[in-house]
Amino acid sequence: MLLEKFYIVGGKKLTGTVTIAGAKNAALAILPAALLADSPCVIDNLPYIDDVIVLADILAEVGANVTLSKNGRAVVDGRPVSRYKAPHDMVKRLRASYYLLGVLLAKFGKAEIPFPGGCEIGARPIDQHIKGFEALGAKVDIEHGIIKARAEKLVGNEIYLDVVSVGATINIMLAAVKAEGPTIIVNAAKEPHVVDVANFLNSMGANVKGAGTDTIRIKGVEKLNGCEYTIIPDQIEAGTFMIAAAATGGDVVVSGVIPKHLESITAKLLEMGEEVIEGDDYVRVRGIAKPRRVNIKTLPYPGFPTDLQQPMTVLCSIAKGTSVIHESLFDHRFRHVEELRRMGANIKVEDRVAICEGVDFLTGAPVTATDLRAGAALIIAGLIAHGVTVIDNIHFIDRGYEKIEQKLMKLGADIRRLNDGESLLKVVSSNNTIG
Ligand code: EPZ
Repeated sequence: MLLEKFYIVGGKKLTGTVTIAGAKNAALAILPAALLADSPCVIDNLPYIDDVIVLADILAEVGANVTLSKNGRAVVDGRPVSRYKAPHDMVKRLRASYYLLGVLLAKFGKAEIPFPGGCEIGARPIDQHIKGFEALGAKVDIEHGIIKARAEKLVGNEIYLDVVSVGATINIMLAAVKAEGPTIIVNAAKEPHVVDVANFLNSMGANVKGAGTDTIRIKGVEKLNGCEYTIIPDQIEAGTFMIAAAATGGDVVVSGVIPKHLESITAKLLEMGEEVIEGDDYVRVRGIAKPRRVNIKTLPYPGFPTDLQQPMTVLCSIAKGTSVIHESLFDHRFRHVEELRRMGANIKVEDRVAICEGVDFLTGAPVTATDLRAGAALIIAGLIAHGVTVIDNIHFIDRGYEKIEQKLMKLGADIRRLNDGESLLKVVSSNNTIG
């Protein structure tokens, strides 16, 4: 809901166990991919988040039968899909609707999707997606802000990605699984969610090899069948809780994860002096009072994930010394810095580099979430700040984190969701003042 806020009283250490939900960025590709099957797919461990709910609506809009339940199970039947155009108002709400390009092109030989355009973290071109579709024999035009793709027949080809792109890698896979002959994607993205999509496609009977490496080989098949599939745990949600545990000096078991997917976060936390213990399906983080400074450069997997750059900036803002954070993927992913400065952080941004001078502590303040991961960063800042922090625009956070305040409350955080227009004064008067 647009006017909801989070109200956080800082200073509580997080302790206990938190279970991580399914991976958002796998779910947003696997749900549309299910339309390619000639019978229904049952998909489990979906995160029940706004982006998934909106995507289910979009799939229904093009004609699919989709049931999505709060326990994270979806049943998707793509057989009734009759439309190859996705509605503009819906696509505007969800950038990842561009996966419908690969799916509808594979299904109908044509697709019309509004150009997704940029978003809160900077320019988001899709030239590599289009390069892939054209290599497979499609004709792609952009007319009046609509991407129009047409192909008599999709024929496998070798495609070299000029930029390592998660979206382009996945979208080309979706278009190629039923193309005629072999496709090779060179310089492919290796993220865990890319591998999860490939595993899902293979569960439907596709022939995708090499996902997780920089070369993916696909042999087109005639038919794909419905299957049952369980989504992997969310690497970014897990990393967010690891950073929150460290920042509060707490002791948290982040469970239901694949530790290998979290190696770059673990490495950075260890470098800062935090204690991280890896189990088979959990990571335990015990934070220290004053972490050491660190340098971070975001890179495609297995490098440090750009989606955790913003939460990590908070930990760096109270570290001992000067940390340098280089955001190499997106050109506008430091909008959280302005808000952290309002809380007393000492951070300077020059182009794609943030220089973080560690301060003794942050102080609570009213702040605004500008995008999903900036919102997550502000929650962590509120958890460690002296006094009360109120975050608005939290609808951004609900797009990617399922019940985040409930999970944090269970770990001992003093956080609550203020409903639309709930009197802040009433809440504040019964607590400390803001800031
Ligand atoms: C996915 O976005 C994620 N979104 C993003 O997560 C994530 O930050 C990003 O991958 C990087 O890991 C989903 O999976 C839904 P890219 P995507 O294509 O696919 C350039 C979150 O917070 N590029 O890997 O759009 C692009 O500009 C979100 O969960 C081109 O130049 O990212 C960027 O610099 C935010 N041409 C770089 O590649 C293209 O055709 C990586 O982008 C495509 C991308």
